[in-house]
Amino acid sequence: MEGYVVRGVENGARAIEELRRRPYDMVISDLKMPGLDGLQLLDQIAKERLNVISVIMTGFATVETAIEAMKRGAHDYILKPFKIEEVVHVVRKGLEFQNLRKENIRLRAAVTLYEVSQAVATSLDLDQVLDVILKAAQGEVEADVAALYLTDEQSGELVETRVVHSGDGKERDRTCPELVTAEVLGAFERGEEVIASGVRTQRYVRGAELPVSAMAVPVVTGKHLIGVLATFAYARGRTFDEGARKLLSVLATRAAASIEMTRLYGDLVTRNDELTEANEALERNFRQTITALARALEESDPYTRGHSERVAVYSGLIARGLGMSEAEIETVVQSGLLHDIGKIGIKTEMLNKPGKLTPREIALFQEHPDKGKRILEPIPFMKDLIPGVWCHHEHIDGGGYPQGLKSDDIPMLGRLIGIADAYDAMTSDRAYRRALSHEQAIAEIQRCSGTQFDAEFAEVFIREIEKWREEQQASGDPYPF
Ligand SMILES: [Fe+2]
Repeated sequence: MEGYVVRGVENGARAIEELRRRPYDMVISDLKMPGLDGLQLLDQIAKERLNVISVIMTGFATVETAIEAMKRGAHDYILKPFKIEEVVHVVRKGLEFQNLRKENIRLRAAVTLYEVSQAVATSLDLDQVLDVILKAAQGEVEADVAALYLTDEQSGELVETRVVHSGDGKERDRTCPELVTAEVLGAFERGEEVIASGVRTQRYVRGAELPVSAMAVPVVTGKHLIGVLATFAYARGRTFDEGARKLLSVLATRAAASIEMTRLYGDLVTRNDELTEANEALERNFRQTITALARALEESDPYTRGHSERVAVYSGLIARGLGMSEAEIETVVQSGLLHDIGKIGIKTEMLNKPGKLTPREIALFQEHPDKGKRILEPIPFMKDLIPGVWCHHEHIDGGGYPQGLKSDDIPMLGRLIGIADAYDAMTSDRAYRRALSHEQAIAEIQRCSGTQFDAEFAEVFIREIEKWREEQQASGDPYPF
């Protein structure tokens, strides 16, 4: 009449059978019954962890027994003879409590999942994440053992890789059962998850001590099964229910995501390492190419041997004095090394001819910056070096060649290498004249500062070359070239 669905059975043993068969919210039981009595019924409910609350009916004479019943897990009691309103009141209160308890379990599961998500989100350490997931699985479905099995790549068998046991020491010694790979995977292929108790567990599980109940769900990334998440219970009468299976399924999804993420991250690290290596190889290659080109040039013009290397060093001094970055200095030095690369095509006899060149010879000679540019243009990673090669004979006042550029229209590399080139040309013996002294060369640079040379760069060069010469002097190697 109150709207509850009630089923009556004649004794404790039948009550247990009924409770195992379908879920109930509440048991109202007498104490004295044939076979299994009220207290034994309470014990059995606790042992099998049946999710139901119990109310005991008792007469005045057995109040002590009622207290004993409460101790054994009864939720409440009703004194006989009872008034109907009192029964309704106790039932309503009991069901409210039961709802709260279920809510609490749901909340706990939610908290667990939240913790798992947090662990997955904040940690790239797979071991740590899998531990959290297994502990959650073991705790939330109240299993004795939770384990992760991964597919062995060679044999295709499911191999236990990680195990978590429930708290007390006895369970910790328990070995984790082996899964019967074919049966478990067979179930997955049929779209089922494994949930078995009693003798049925033998189909899926092998081992010295078989669990009373076993549950196994697939761990899948994409469409690829990588392993199995399983829980086992050993207490008699303990069975996993649908709720537990669903929770385990969710945890398996988290485990899969985590494994996938770690794998992707690992791939990324490897890919990045490979890329760095490739870049380094390319850079080495680049340096070797430049050195080879510079050497080829020097081979073709033995008289100016060492010129390219010295210009590279002097250009580097100016770049460093200007406070450029290491990468920029490197570009300046490489461009300095190659600045005369266009001379490769010019006959050496003409370059080293004593006395004056004919106008035709001068015109040929002055083609070398353009030639250098054309040599380097087809090589993508030489692109940054071209301005120094092309423009190192331009003058600030527009009187240089090949383009006759003025002041800031001349690329920085050209203005910079132009000074280094002029200084080395003046301080070296040539076929047509003797070398000038350092002081004479410096005086010449100062004289032409602002007309031929960039004034700021000339000033920096003079400062840096003096410093460098002092350092060379101090090191006992004043003429390194
Ligand atoms: Fe040149």
